[in-house]
Amino acid sequence: MRYITFALAKGRLAEKSMEMFEEIGISCEEMKDKSSRKLIFTNEELGYRFFLAKASDVPTYVEYGAADIGIVGKDTILEEGRRLYEVLDLGIGKCRMCVCGPVSAGELLRHHELIRVATKYPDIAKDYFYNKKHQTVEIIKLNGSIELAPIVGLSEVIVDIVETGSTLRENGLTILEEVCPLSARMVVNQVSMKRENERIARIIQDLRRVVLRRQEGQQQQ
Ligand code: PRP
Repeated sequence: MRYITFALAKGRLAEKSMEMFEEIGISCEEMKDKSSRKLIFTNEELGYRFFLAKASDVPTYVEYGAADIGIVGKDTILEEGRRLYEVLDLGIGKCRMCVCGPVSAGELLRHHELIRVATKYPDIAKDYFYNKKHQTVEIIKLNGSIELAPIVGLSEVIVDIVETGSTLRENGLTILEEVCPLSARMVVNQVSMKRENERIARIIQDLRRVVLRRQEGQQQQ
């Protein structure tokens, strides 16, 4: 039997998605050893392989078929723009992509001023400002701690992920506009989807049930 290979965005998302996989009988004992420096883990019996990768590399592994299936945030999928099938919203890692800044920057946005936008997601920011808002802006790519940019005067606003909102609050910034909602998605290589259709379709179907069950559980709470 050919292995089905999963690429998981390392960190909290990988742990949460493995919990979901366990619910549908896809487990990997090897992965639970936190002290291990191994990069790839196998479940010989079921014919599955798992590896952890930097989130922004997951769509690349999947597009090239080095992984059949990937679990990664919608932010990364949008930013990378790879050719792959997005097949399921896992309903975990929920957050929002937003335009944020000091309250005073709201006025600049409203008047379509030529402002500077700092972000780790230049393609998402470009698409939002140029294609959706038809506003010309200067986009500055940063790699982390994006909230610093408007505080130290690098940019007027930022485009960044907001989860609880505490980073913004603690730094005197606020949400000015919402770009899109985000969550973890399952993506599939286009050739694998045909070649391994039966096994992959089964995984999607089983996971969809877990997602629905969890949603129902949340609604009842
Ligand atoms: C993300 C994001 C925000 C923060 C939002 O950063 O870029 O800074 O989390 O979360 P909150 O709304 O719950 O405060 P991350 O911690 O991934 O690190 P980074 O800033 O280096 O990208």
